[in-house]
Amino acid sequence: MPDETLILGRVLRYKADPFVEGPGAARVDEALLVRGELIAAVGTAADLRAQAPEAEVADFGDALVSAGFVDCHAHYPQTGIVASWGKRLIDWLNTYTFPEEMRFADPAYAAEVAGRYLDLLLDNGTTCVASFCTIHPGSVDAIFEAAEARSMAIVAGKTCMDRNAPADLCDTPQRAYDDSKRLLDAWHGRGRATYAITPRFSPTSSREQLQALGALWSERPDCAMQTHLSEQTDEIGWVRELFPEAQDYLETYEAAALLGRRGIYGHSIHLTARERDRLHEMGAAVAHCPTSNTFIGSGLFDMGLRDRGLTVGLATDTGGGSSFSMLRTMAAAYEIGQLRGRPLHPAELLWLATVGSARALGLEGRLGRIAPGLSADLVVLDLASTPAIAQRAARAGDVWEALFPTIMMGDDRAVRSVWVGGRRVRS
Ligand code: GUN
Ligand code: ZN
Repeated sequence: MPDETLILGRVLRYKADPFVEGPGAARVDEALLVRGELIAAVGTAADLRAQAPEAEVADFGDALVSAGFVDCHAHYPQTGIVASWGKRLIDWLNTYTFPEEMRFADPAYAAEVAGRYLDLLLDNGTTCVASFCTIHPGSVDAIFEAAEARSMAIVAGKTCMDRNAPADLCDTPQRAYDDSKRLLDAWHGRGRATYAITPRFSPTSSREQLQALGALWSERPDCAMQTHLSEQTDEIGWVRELFPEAQDYLETYEAAALLGRRGIYGHSIHLTARERDRLHEMGAAVAHCPTSNTFIGSGLFDMGLRDRGLTVGLATDTGGGSSFSMLRTMAAAYEIGQLRGRPLHPAELLWLATVGSARALGLEGRLGRIAPGLSADLVVLDLASTPAIAQRAARAGDVWEALFPTIMMGDDRAVRSVWVGGRRVRS
C-alpha cells in the first residue's frame, strides 16, 4: 500500500464550470485522501478516516484546500528582470529581455535561474507552469531538470527566433526545427514533462521558420504549441508590415499550420471578430496575463471570450508580468474585469487559475482539479494570513466571501502548505 495522507480543511472543488453554472459549480468538503501521487477520495472526515485508518493526518483547520495553481504562460528566463521600469513591449524586449536571455548561453546560469524560479512558484502555491525558455537548448534542459527534481508537471520549449532580435539569440528555420525535435524527443512525456513548440511571436520568426515549426507540430500534434498574439497595437501594426499578405495577426500562424488544439496564444487582447471565431473553432486556448497587460501597458483583455466558450487560462507572464503570484494575478484579472464592466466572481477567478489553465494546457485530465485519480498537486491557503485580511474575512458569510480578501490582498504569506505529486513540499 503506498503512503496515505488524510488532509483536513475546507476542501474546495469544482464539479462544473462556474462560468456556466455560477458559484454553485463548486462545493466544499471536509477531507481529501492522498494515496501515493494521486488524490484517492474526497468526502467527510469520518468516511475517509474509515477508508484509510492508517493514514497520516494533516489537519489544516479552516484553511482552504484547493488544486495547486496553474500558470499557463510565463518566461522563466525573465525571473531576474521582473519589474523593470518604463518601457512598452518592443522597447522592453530590446532593453531588458534580450540582453538577459543572452546570459542563458551559460548552462550553469540557466540551471541556477530555473531552480530559483520553480522555488518561487512553489512558495506562491503554483504547482504547474507553461514557460518559454530561450533560444539555447540548455535553457530547456535546465527547466525540465529542475522540474523533475521537484516532481512538478511543467510545459516548456525552446523559444525560436530567426529575425528582429540580436544575432546571438537567432537560429534558422532548420535549427529551430532540429533543436525543437531533439528536445521534444528527449523530454515530451518523460515523467510529468510536456514539450511545447515555441515560436516567440510572428515579428521574430520568418515565414520559413513558422512553417518549419508548423510542420513539426503536424508530426507531433500531441505536443503543445505556445506563442504570443495581439498584445499591443504597435506590435499588431508591425505584424501587418511584415506579413502584408495576412488578413490579420492570427493568420500568420494559421498559414504555417500553427493554429489548433493544444495551441496557447498569450495575451490575445486586440482580436478581430474573425480571430476570435477562428481560435474558438480550432479549439485553441488563450492565456490571460493581467499583471503584464497593465505593467507593459498592453490593454484590457475581454473576458467575453470566455463567456462565449473559448478556452481561457490565467497567467503571470513573468517577467512582463510583475508577479510570481497567481493570487496577485487573480486580483489583477478582477480589476481588469471591473474596468470592462465584467466583475469576475471569486469562483471564476479560482477556476481560471486552476481548471481553466490546466484545460488551456491540455492537462485537465491529469491536474488542476480536486477529483479522485488526478495528481495530488495542492495549495492550502490561510484565509487570515495578515491582520488586514483577517479582519475582513472574519465578516464573511460564505466561502467565497472568505476567499475574496485573500485573492485581492494576499501573497505568499497566505500559502500555508503546498503538495506536488502527493508530496508535501512546503509547510
Ligand atoms: N512578445 C514576444 N515576446 C514576449 C515576451 O517575452 N513577453 C511578452 N509579454 N510579450 C512578448
Ligand atoms: Zn509572454
